[in-house]
Amino acid sequence: MIRAKISGVAGFVPEDRLTNEMLSQMVDTNDEWIFSRTGIKERRMLKGEGLGMSYMAEQAVRLLLEKTNTKPEEIDVVICTTITQDMLLPSVANLVCYRVGMTNAWGFDLQAACSGFLYGLETVTKFVESGKYKKAILISGDKMSSIIDYTDRNTCVIFGDGCGAVLVEPTEENVGIMDSKLYSDGSGWQYLHIKAGGSAKPSTMDTLMAGEQYVYQEGQKVYVNAIKNMADVAIEVMERNHLTADNIQWLVPHQANKRIIESTRERVGLPVEKVMVNIQNYGNTTNGTIPLCLWDYEKQLKKGDNIILASFGGGFTWGAIYLKWAY
Ligand code: COA
Repeated sequence: MIRAKISGVAGFVPEDRLTNEMLSQMVDTNDEWIFSRTGIKERRMLKGEGLGMSYMAEQAVRLLLEKTNTKPEEIDVVICTTITQDMLLPSVANLVCYRVGMTNAWGFDLQAACSGFLYGLETVTKFVESGKYKKAILISGDKMSSIIDYTDRNTCVIFGDGCGAVLVEPTEENVGIMDSKLYSDGSGWQYLHIKAGGSAKPSTMDTLMAGEQYVYQEGQKVYVNAIKNMADVAIEVMERNHLTADNIQWLVPHQANKRIIESTRERVGLPVEKVMVNIQNYGNTTNGTIPLCLWDYEKQLKKGDNIILASFGGGFTWGAIYLKWAY
């Protein structure tokens, strides 16, 4: 049986930082409120004329190819998960293939909000398991600063910019992506969405004046659903694979809010030291959080480690993936 394994991970976060202190000069908030409610200290901001999501994706992919000694022409397929494409068309995947010289690859963008990395990993896994694709790249990230209203304290304290990328290859060893369970419930759309700029309500001067190009969020509703669903699905995948706190090495939760991470950890029954957390440095980078955790913790991972990835996000979308680290 061919399995798909992650054989390399890389990331890119912009240099510019937006600290809680800086935010407290912009809106009515303070470091104590932000840190105690979300666990965030600072986020990264991509600045520079004309730089969009594809810029971060390109940097992450170049590093990934260099780290894994892979030539751009060896890549067969590229999937990018993001909610902040440079433009509505073409796709970020398409732009990155061109810029990096992945001339034998085709690719596309996939949208599942904060669950994008999991939806993307499931998709890329099936491509690789089919035997047809030997080297696939999954890019996940967002330039959230492009869709956040920096006068709205309900949202501007949470989100940041960043991007991760993984190389996925076939293996006949007993490592790699072992199991997954993904969910979606479109009735949750009303609690987290962008009101204008899509086909239902194209942008006009009125929508722009009303700020409808920015993320709209009912934080409490999202919070309650995230707490329940992220832990439920992680437990579902653990139970059916006979995984317990003793034989799991890492939980990698979507970094939306430290309290959501903490509550998931408690329900799953893992000690703090088995949970990847970097929300304090980057905030919620939406599609970027899980690959950026893998990137930050890569040195601590060992071949054969049992890892549970879990996410919850807009849509609603949520899920969990069980993988055995492959290197
Ligand atoms: N600074 C200071 N006060 C703030 C604030 C800020 N940045 N944002 C909101 N407040 C105020 C509110 O106005 C409210 O004041 P009131 O009681 O006088 O009305 C109070 O703080 C509590 O607001 P509430 O929305 O109940 O806070 P909360 O504890 O739910 O925290 C979130 C807000 C957004 C941090 C939290 O709901 C959350 O993280 N939700 C999930 C978001 C998420 O994960 N989104 C991404 C999708 S995965």
